[in-house]
Amino acid sequence: MPGLTESELAKFAAAQRSVGFVEDGMKLGLGTGSTAAWMVRCLAARARAEGLRLTCVPTSDRTAVQAKDLGLEVVSLDEAGWLDLTIDGADEIDPAMNLIKGGGGAHLREKVVAMASDRMIVIADPGKEVVQLGAFALPIEVLSFGLDSSVAQIARVLENAEVAARTTQVRMAGDAPFRTDEGNCIVDANLGAIGQPEALAHALNALPGVVETGLFLGVCDSVVIGHGDGRVDMIAAPGAAPETSRVDPAEAAHLPG
Ligand code: 5RP
Repeated sequence: MPGLTESELAKFAAAQRSVGFVEDGMKLGLGTGSTAAWMVRCLAARARAEGLRLTCVPTSDRTAVQAKDLGLEVVSLDEAGWLDLTIDGADEIDPAMNLIKGGGGAHLREKVVAMASDRMIVIADPGKEVVQLGAFALPIEVLSFGLDSSVAQIARVLENAEVAARTTQVRMAGDAPFRTDEGNCIVDANLGAIGQPEALAHALNALPGVVETGLFLGVCDSVVIGHGDGRVDMIAAPGAAPETSRVDPAEAAHLPG
């Protein structure tokens, strides 16, 4: 497909397959990031073509704008109540379907929405699959109040953690710390490899300045991996054999948005 990279086509393929799990009347959580943005376009196209009545809860302000622009009904999580399905991207996916998320700075709302859903499907290109979490810097959302103190407390936790590296940096947006949609800051922790994700998540979440980490442990139910040639591997549960199907990469050019 001219104009689209292999990686974009892979994201489209995963996104297109994932919206096949959407049914009329569903309440949906919409993820954030470039892969999720493909999903919102695929979803809007399907909703338009089939007249689906969907209620959507975006996980970020930018996804909310995109979804509304494409004609999807957007409500708050509290207006929607419990959700049937959340579809979102990830930065890393391990064989147990544990994730690192938050590269786009939205992991707090993403986790709140995913945890309020019957099911979370993660969509990704093959580059997101890892044997062990940690090569991608772990995003840790912290209060802006006492930011330096939280960075120091995180460093102390990392001293006792089973990780391969221990450097951190405050995520910046120009000269100022990046702010999430909730007005918080993000500390990115370069850990190399995370030996005990549960213990690390527990220790970090025990710090009062930490709002939430990008570790999604036991939250994801199914994974859809797209490939640049339109092949899609659907893994229904951790350890399940992938079911392979195909989508037409040419359809990417006809999506709204
Ligand atoms: C945003 C996220 C994204 O899902 C994650 O960063 C993947 O993004 P992309 O699909 O652009 O690679 O967690 O907070």
